[in-house]
Amino acid sequence: MAVLGISPFVFILLWNLLTHFVDTGQGLEVIEREYEIPVSADTFIHGPATNQGMYDYLEIGQRADRIESRTLVTFEISQFMLDSQWGRNEQYPNINQSTILQSSLRLSCSNIENAASTDPFNRNFQDTLHVGRLLVPWEEAVATSVVRASGGRSWEVENVGMDGSDATPSVASAFVDITYAACQEGTSVSFDITDTLLSWINGTSPNYGLVIWAEDAMLSRRWIKFASSGSHDVANHPVLTVSIQDTLISTPGESSFQSNV
Ligand SMILES: *[C@@H]1O[C@H](CO)[C@@H](O)[C@H](O)[C@H]1NC(C)=O
Ligand SMILES: *[C@@H]1O[C@H](CO)[C@@H](O)[C@H](O)[C@H]1NC(C)=O
Repeated sequence: MAVLGISPFVFILLWNLLTHFVDTGQGLEVIEREYEIPVSADTFIHGPATNQGMYDYLEIGQRADRIESRTLVTFEISQFMLDSQWGRNEQYPNINQSTILQSSLRLSCSNIENAASTDPFNRNFQDTLHVGRLLVPWEEAVATSVVRASGGRSWEVENVGMDGSDATPSVASAFVDITYAACQEGTSVSFDITDTLLSWINGTSPNYGLVIWAEDAMLSRRWIKFASSGSHDVANHPVLTVSIQDTLISTPGESSFQSNV
C-alpha cells in the first residue's frame, strides 16, 4: 500500500501551490509556497500476531479486544530537498534564500469505533494524540508490536518504546475530540513537526519516520482510524505540509541556494 516515488499528480500540485508575493521595496521579493510531501510507508501495529500494512486505514487507541493500536508513518524527504531548491526552478532563477517556516503532519479521519456502542452516531474519540520520532528502521509489510523489520529484528520494547529506545518521547501532540459525524465529514488532525523536519534535513536525526499513539489509550475502548496510503481517497492520505519562504533578488543575476537548515 505504500506510495513509492512521487506521482505526476504530486508534481502538478507542487507547481500550483504558490501562495503569494511580497515586494520588500529593497530589490528583494518574498514568496511563500506550500509543499506537500506524500507518505512513503505507513502501517499500524496491533498485537504480535498480524502485520496490518495492507489495510486502507491507520488505527490508534484501544480496540474491543483490549489491545492497543499505534500508527507508524515515514516520509521520504530527498525529492522534497531537490524540488525545494527553488534556484533550480526556471520560474525563479534568482532565489537568494529559502526558509522553512512551518511543517505539519496531517492525518484524515476515516472512522471512529467504540466497543460500548453499536450506534456509530453515538461515538466520539476524545484523547491527546502524541507523535514521537522513530529511532530505528521498520518495514510496512513486516511490522507488528514485536517485530519491526525482516531478519527477526524486534522493537527494543514491545509496542515501540517511546523512552529513547525505539522512539523519542512526544515531540508534538494534539488534543482530539471528533464525533463520528465530524469524522465522516472529513475532519483531519495536524501536528506541528517543524523541528523534526529541520533535524531530518540537517542530518542531526535519522529519518525513520514517526509513531503516533493515544495518551490514554488503555483507559477506554475507543479507537480512531485515519486514511492510510492504501485508501482510494488519495487526497486524504497522510501528508507532511511544508510552508517555505523564498527571498528573490529582483534583478535576476547571480544566485545561490541557501537554506536555514
Ligand atoms: C544573498 O543573501 C546573503 C545573506 O543571506 C547576502 O550576503 C548576499 O549578498 C545575497 N546575494 C545577493 C546577490 O544579493
Ligand atoms: C538541526 O535542526 C534542529 C532543529 O531545528 C536544531 O535544533 C539543531 O540545532 C540543528 N543542528 C545543526 C547542526 O544545525
